[in-house]
Amino acid sequence: KAQSLSNMADYIVDLDQENVGSLKQQIGKLFEESLRLTVPDELDVEPAIAPCQNPRFGDYQCNNAMGLWSKVKGKGTQFRGPQPIGQAIMKNLPSSEIIDSCSIAGPGFVNVVLSKQWIAKSIQRMLVHGIETWAPKLPIERAVVDFSSPNIAKEMHVGHLRSTIIGDTLARMLEYSNVNVLRRNHVGDWGTQFGMLIEYLFEKFPNVEVVNDQAIGDLEAFYKASKQRFDSDPAFKERAQKAVVSLQAGEERYRTAWARICEISRRGYERVYERLGVELEEKGESFYNPYIPGALELLSQQGLIEESEGARVIFIEGKNIPLIVVKRDGGYNYASTDLAALWYRLNEEKVEWIIYVTDVGQREHFEMVFTAAKRAGWLPAEDNKYPKASHVGFGLVLGEDGKRFRTRSTETVKLVDLLDEAKSRCKTVLIERGKAEQWTAEELDETAEAVGYGAVKYADLKNNRTTNYTFNFDQMLSDKGNTAVYLLYAHARICSIIRKSGKDIEELKKVGTLELAHPDERVLGFHLLQFAEIVEEACTNLLPNVLCEYLYNLSEDFTRFYTNCQVVGSLEETSRLLLCEATAVVMRKCFHLLGITPVYKI
Ligand code: ARG
Repeated sequence: KAQSLSNMADYIVDLDQENVGSLKQQIGKLFEESLRLTVPDELDVEPAIAPCQNPRFGDYQCNNAMGLWSKVKGKGTQFRGPQPIGQAIMKNLPSSEIIDSCSIAGPGFVNVVLSKQWIAKSIQRMLVHGIETWAPKLPIERAVVDFSSPNIAKEMHVGHLRSTIIGDTLARMLEYSNVNVLRRNHVGDWGTQFGMLIEYLFEKFPNVEVVNDQAIGDLEAFYKASKQRFDSDPAFKERAQKAVVSLQAGEERYRTAWARICEISRRGYERVYERLGVELEEKGESFYNPYIPGALELLSQQGLIEESEGARVIFIEGKNIPLIVVKRDGGYNYASTDLAALWYRLNEEKVEWIIYVTDVGQREHFEMVFTAAKRAGWLPAEDNKYPKASHVGFGLVLGEDGKRFRTRSTETVKLVDLLDEAKSRCKTVLIERGKAEQWTAEELDETAEAVGYGAVKYADLKNNRTTNYTFNFDQMLSDKGNTAVYLLYAHARICSIIRKSGKDIEELKKVGTLELAHPDERVLGFHLLQFAEIVEEACTNLLPNVLCEYLYNLSEDFTRFYTNCQVVGSLEETSRLLLCEATAVVMRKCFHLLGITPVYKI
């Protein structure tokens, strides 16, 4: 009976081949079944599955026995210790084509060796049905990623570049995992600075209708000039303060001027997004302004808002300063806007996860906003429950002098210039390698762009985001080590192996068979199959560097395989070409998730 039941389970897994979840999830399902049989009274035990610490013992291990022992030992259990529990877990595993063999180690760890036939079959199935079938399953349907979010009329600096790059990758990984992602550009388009900007605009251009990009020129310089005017002329300052009131009251002339300034600024940063291939939907601070009174009213009803030194504030346990939600002059601020935005996203947009990507400097701010929302009952108190709000903080970009990244000529680095330089450096290298003669001008340009922009993104993403990283063109554009250049070249080399074989790979996918006979093939195949759980981990912990590390190790595993196993002209040619193709497919998906355009030849 048990046998036929487990065959049934296999059958179900097979029917569900459209998307079976990550490898870890699949193994988890088998252990879940075993745990139900082993300890029928313990209903809330989740299978604890991890990759084996020592690959000599197997691929995965189930770590439930010890924890279970401490749960059941006082309850008159039949088991005499964790090891017998481990034995029972092993015995009760449903038979499955996934598993080749199991063993017990230490106090009841169950080691699992996967079947290499099954690994091979899974890879081949992915080649036929597409890498989308390997997408991990996440427990949510809709999320907001709040990223990039520069401030109107102020410079968009490298910090915003980091936010743009990291946020885009997180959004891409969630999208791949079938989450509906609202990519939100929470631009700073509201606040007192607009009084001064508008007043200065009126002064310079009495006829607002004629104002366009050319007229204003550099918006940043315009901001600085107006700031100087504000600081040095009390009469101007007074007019600027009145302008804020007029703007907030919705006076036509002021709204028009405000919209103009936003529009010009927007065009500037859209140029950066276009180059980076990043899509964003702007819902700036101004959008949430009408929702602030309602949100504050709700918090007030919960008794969260107090009067303090003329301002209205929320005191948060463990924090020295309160969260100010209404300033002394009665105006709203960054925090009130974020509270309203949080309410809106939860209640109007009905998302289950809200992810904010900013520098670590804003951690306090978000901690306070999230705590307030928890106390108001907008978010559950437990961090592992949905709906959830997460702050994804990142470190500074440093120059080679170890200080905040700047160039000599200007105070901060212009993002567009930075991308241009990466591209032009790549082009120079390609020309030195004689590519100008072999390729069309268009190919040369596209490759330089893919590699140059890819290098900038990858150099950022490969670090644990919370650490500062040093911006260094020579390092990021090197073709050795853990760089985008190295990885893009590795991918192109695989493509050229397949091309040079002269075989039709689409045909091979249908008629050929993938086998993993050589140990280095087995290692590579197993690594490929772990793709989904890596994406899952990178999403769950919001750490893009996990995917970078995976990609780099994948290319190392491929190199070892290619060094030790002859592909073209060997007896195993068909199988090995399929393995090459699968590696290229997974690498391309990694590039895609990291926002990098793959290249097919070098
Ligand atoms: N505009 C802010 C800045 O430049 C970032 C906004 C982040 N998003 C948010 N919902 N607060 O620092």
